[in-house]
Amino acid sequence: MQEKQLQELLGSLSLTEKIGQLVQVPGEVLNAEGQELGVREDLGLSEEIIRNAGSTLNVVGAKRIKEVQKAYLERSRHKIPLLFMADIIYGFRTVFPIPLALGCTFEPELLERLCEVTSQESVAAGAHVTFSPMVDLVRDARWGRCLESTGEDPYMNSLYAKAMVEGFQKGMSDGAKEPKGMASCIKHFAAYGAPEGGRDYNTVDMSERRLRQEYLPSYKAGVDAGCEMIMTSFNTVDGIPSTGNKWLMDDVLRKEWGFDGVVITDYAAIAELVIHGAAEDQKEAARLAMEAGVDIDMCTGCYANYLEELIQEGRIDEKQLDKAVMRILKLKNKLGLFEDPYRGADEAKEAGLFLSKENRRLAKEAAVKSMVLLENREETLPLAAGAKIALIGPYADNQDALGFWAIHGTKSAVITLKTALEEAVGAENVMSAPGCETILEKDYHDLPAMQKQYGMEGWSDEKRQEEMEKAAELAAQADVAVLALGEAVLQGGEGGSRTSLTLPGDQLALLKKVREKAAKVVVVLFGGRPLVLDEVSKLSDALLEVWFPGTEGGHAIADVLLGKESPCGRLSMSMPRCVGQMPLYYNHFNTGRPYDGITPNRFFSRYTDCENTPLYPYGYGLSYHKAEYGPVTLSSHIMKKGETITVQADITNTGSRAGIETVQLYLRDVAGSVVRPVKELKGVQKVALDAGETKRVKFTITEEMLRFYGKNMEYCSEPGKFQVMIAPDSSYDMQAEFILE
Ligand code: GLC
Repeated sequence: MQEKQLQELLGSLSLTEKIGQLVQVPGEVLNAEGQELGVREDLGLSEEIIRNAGSTLNVVGAKRIKEVQKAYLERSRHKIPLLFMADIIYGFRTVFPIPLALGCTFEPELLERLCEVTSQESVAAGAHVTFSPMVDLVRDARWGRCLESTGEDPYMNSLYAKAMVEGFQKGMSDGAKEPKGMASCIKHFAAYGAPEGGRDYNTVDMSERRLRQEYLPSYKAGVDAGCEMIMTSFNTVDGIPSTGNKWLMDDVLRKEWGFDGVVITDYAAIAELVIHGAAEDQKEAARLAMEAGVDIDMCTGCYANYLEELIQEGRIDEKQLDKAVMRILKLKNKLGLFEDPYRGADEAKEAGLFLSKENRRLAKEAAVKSMVLLENREETLPLAAGAKIALIGPYADNQDALGFWAIHGTKSAVITLKTALEEAVGAENVMSAPGCETILEKDYHDLPAMQKQYGMEGWSDEKRQEEMEKAAELAAQADVAVLALGEAVLQGGEGGSRTSLTLPGDQLALLKKVREKAAKVVVVLFGGRPLVLDEVSKLSDALLEVWFPGTEGGHAIADVLLGKESPCGRLSMSMPRCVGQMPLYYNHFNTGRPYDGITPNRFFSRYTDCENTPLYPYGYGLSYHKAEYGPVTLSSHIMKKGETITVQADITNTGSRAGIETVQLYLRDVAGSVVRPVKELKGVQKVALDAGETKRVKFTITEEMLRFYGKNMEYCSEPGKFQVMIAPDSSYDMQAEFILE
């Protein structure tokens, strides 16, 4: 449709029909027969509003979407197609590693490709919009939604946000006959990843400077990449919940950044304005959200039941409603829905794309590149050919390894580590046992109720004893014990906040027991967040973090364990020594009393019972090659106005295997009108090195890289001294200096 036609369509709508476009209803109220009353009634939605609803969520599948769209249009007077949105976070039917794992690849172009493939599967399944990418910066592993984030660094998160938006939306606006790409939705705007105590939905409170300097860049990168939608976050920002925060949603997002796409709330967030205490009642909540510039009300009756009144009372200008409706109509038009309401939904295409050989290959590649080798004492890995393996632990043969937010994936398609190892070395060389359960009631207080509800009965004490003994015996008979351990899926994700970050259940006891018997112990760690691994590390000869590695996780892990692939992942989030260190991040301020980690003196910024440093730092990881970094040299020690400086170092692979080295550039602004972090990542290069090969790696330092929000909130660089380092991770010291004139 042309713009003029859209305006005419808007003009033809009644007030109720316009308001309907702003209402998103849960998928279950839009079954082909009409709606199931239960959910509708709970939401206080009239049948008329359902008939006019503009969008729905998490209805997927070509057949189902075609049925629902057809039934909807038959009941609709205006024939404006329904918009189908879904949580397609890190894969659709082919599930990739969780974003926290993908953040360890330091390869934005890979994430772009993964999102493009995800869109191909999703478009065939009829989806129009994905509630992804989540680009919240995270620094607190107690928060279960770390798994959805690409990590703790603003620079990398911005590169990833751009890549994922471009990947999801690739081809979307080409107007090609064969629809490609789906609309992406940057979330959760803003700073949802910084809840006090790491407790989900909790208060977020920080200075505008920190918000703008550290938390907003990744959202802005998504907007600049052309994301079609933004989702408000549940939390308050400076005392006002995002969903009703006009400064954030209008002044910053629309006026400063020029975002002219659609703003949708998070689930029921408008109604939660009342619970937050930002609105007396749902009518006031509706007014606040509308005034802030929220276009779509996800699954509450606030807009549906109060906007008409607010307009009639003159408390909302109908022009504001018209603007919101027009943004939604434009998105539907961009997707070509007026010409084809069934855009791309195609059962035959689904069958060809879902879990295809190529998509599985890509999933395996992503899983290999996401893994982080944390320890490898005496080169325990790769495993010796022909080794007898005792594969032990709750994740040895567990298909529940997709993580919390892979709701459209199929667990039955997951390749387990047992399957993969048996394929690779023969079943006769793999003895396997679970050894213990994943979690116990102490780890998850709702567990008894869930076990009852889902019939996941726990083991008896006798069985626990028996299984642990059996596992220890297997370890004694093998050349190497591979322990597949980790958090349970339900411990992470939304609502998955923890006060402890240790291995759950009896897993540590199992590790200790196996350690007593095994010649060599390799721990393969599954999970969706950094854990406290000090004891695990001491008891392991090798420690491989695999996160939730997705559909092809088993094959990827086996390839790395057996040396077919070399691990090259580098940590996207700092790994703590103790949960008390939270929040923990590398780009912290120096303080006036920085602790050197050595001087026995209490009057420093330190703990008396734990080191300040992470157990494993941001950007860290081992590989099967060995990289030696030569000294950095600068093209100049003075950066004049309008000029750049080249910094370089020679990197040599002194190992016996080829490998990929993730070379990192960090800068420090030594003094400014506000204090600056002790270091900030400003560049990354992945360099392939053959055994014995040396490569000169160069980075260009520009004045733009040195800008920040100064004491008057102006975003600019300030003359003075800077330090620079080229290193394998964030724990190294600065190596050279230059002056910005
Ligand atoms: C959830 C999540 C959000 C998701 C939305 C729709 O509560 O916070 O990430 O996209 O609701 O399911």
